[in-house]
Amino acid sequence: MLYIGVDLGTSAVKLLLMDSEGKIKNIVSKEYPLYFPHPGWSEQKPEDWWEQTVIGIKELIQDADRSQIAGISFGGQMHGLVILDKEDKVIRPAILWNDGRTFEECDYLNNVIGKEKLSEYTANISFTGFTAPKILWVKNKEPENFAKIEKIMLPKDYIAYKLTGVHCTDVSDASGMLLFDVKNRKWSKEMCEICGISEDKLAKCYESYEAVGTVLPEVAEMLGIPATCIVAAGAGDNAAAAVGTGTVGDNMCNISLGTSGTIFISSKNFGVDKFNALHSFAHADGKYHLMGCMLSAASCNKWWMDEIIGTKNYAEEQKAIEKLGENHVFFLPYLMGERSPHNNPNARATFIGMTMDSTRADMTQAVLEGVGFALRDSLEVAKSLGIKLERTKICGGGAKSPLWKKMIANILNLKVDVIESEEGPAMGGAMLAAVACGEYKSVEEIAAKVVKIVDTVDPDPELVAKYEARYAQFKEIYPACKELFNKIQ
Ligand code: XUL
Repeated sequence: MLYIGVDLGTSAVKLLLMDSEGKIKNIVSKEYPLYFPHPGWSEQKPEDWWEQTVIGIKELIQDADRSQIAGISFGGQMHGLVILDKEDKVIRPAILWNDGRTFEECDYLNNVIGKEKLSEYTANISFTGFTAPKILWVKNKEPENFAKIEKIMLPKDYIAYKLTGVHCTDVSDASGMLLFDVKNRKWSKEMCEICGISEDKLAKCYESYEAVGTVLPEVAEMLGIPATCIVAAGAGDNAAAAVGTGTVGDNMCNISLGTSGTIFISSKNFGVDKFNALHSFAHADGKYHLMGCMLSAASCNKWWMDEIIGTKNYAEEQKAIEKLGENHVFFLPYLMGERSPHNNPNARATFIGMTMDSTRADMTQAVLEGVGFALRDSLEVAKSLGIKLERTKICGGGAKSPLWKKMIANILNLKVDVIESEEGPAMGGAMLAAVACGEYKSVEEIAAKVVKIVDTVDPDPELVAKYEARYAQFKEIYPACKELFNKIQ
């Protein structure tokens, strides 16, 4: 049998075709625009996602035996607010996970409703990218649109809806809405009330590996796939990436170096840290996870390479970097504000420490290291909870760089296991589809069978010590700049 994994990302949709043994048969990627209508805002058109997904699926399967296509599922950018009217038409562009407009609504949720109550109802507090504060923003700033809302969805769920006609979501993605009682895996009545919506405006919530329906006959015909093809609920991109890298069960770690950067720790048990600095979400394997999310990771390097120094040859640029752990230039990677652990939409990116002999390579190195140090900030929170990690998997576009992987291994002092393919969310999506179709009994079973580690980057004690000293300095930069960031808005 064949399974399609759809990774509905921020810069592109990636589609992957996998066979029953987990072998990747084809990968296709289709880009769509990202809009920044105001500084700190970030939007996309759900219609673009669907259009490019359709084009991508057709290309993905053109040389495959289409009669064998048994299932489709997803990893999707999380938290994005997609609102549909009573005719299921998109009301306004989706407000994305890295959008910072909801600081007033977050202030209301965290300080008027109160973090304790939010944590009690949802296991999380409010961050500007989360969905509930966006609903409040639409209610406050676009009441005419709020009045039209019939269904509230997340990005990948819009694609599932277009494929099946079913309004659905899954537990991992629902966890990032701040409307979901994560511990009990159900919608929170209290949060619906706080946001002024009835529960029927939310989609039915499934486990990630559950089937939500089959492809609509007319869609099956248009795509050229069997109408028996099952669509599984899928997962938020980080939970899907965790499935795709075999980060399931207890105390496993995955780092994703995509547009965002995340550190994802799977757990059999539900848990929350004292300050809710890490997200406490349901996992796609039926259990739970903790996650730290930085809003700009590989996107910092892309910005630096494409926009500032003007090159597409990232590997060539990295060749000039020689002295790891000895760079005097630091970079705070907060190009879109920052989520974990600072929760500050006003935070900004900063270079600091340059002298007349600083080079272009030092600056490039600082960008890559800054992302590593910011991930370390979230790892420190996990350690403070008593979580002990020795190793991590890695995926996402940034994981293609051997140098970046080496930096991560040494800055975080973790062994970094490299998987055969770094296509985490798309692979995870295809794996969830295979479970929904009954090809495998559980997510853990398929992960054990198909995920293959092909290399491990070991930390080098000498470099770890050097980076430890650098990290101690990095940690002081944000507190020193924090007030200034508020002033320069
Ligand atoms: C996770 C998050 C990002 C997006 C990126 O909380 O906001 O990782 O899911 O697609």
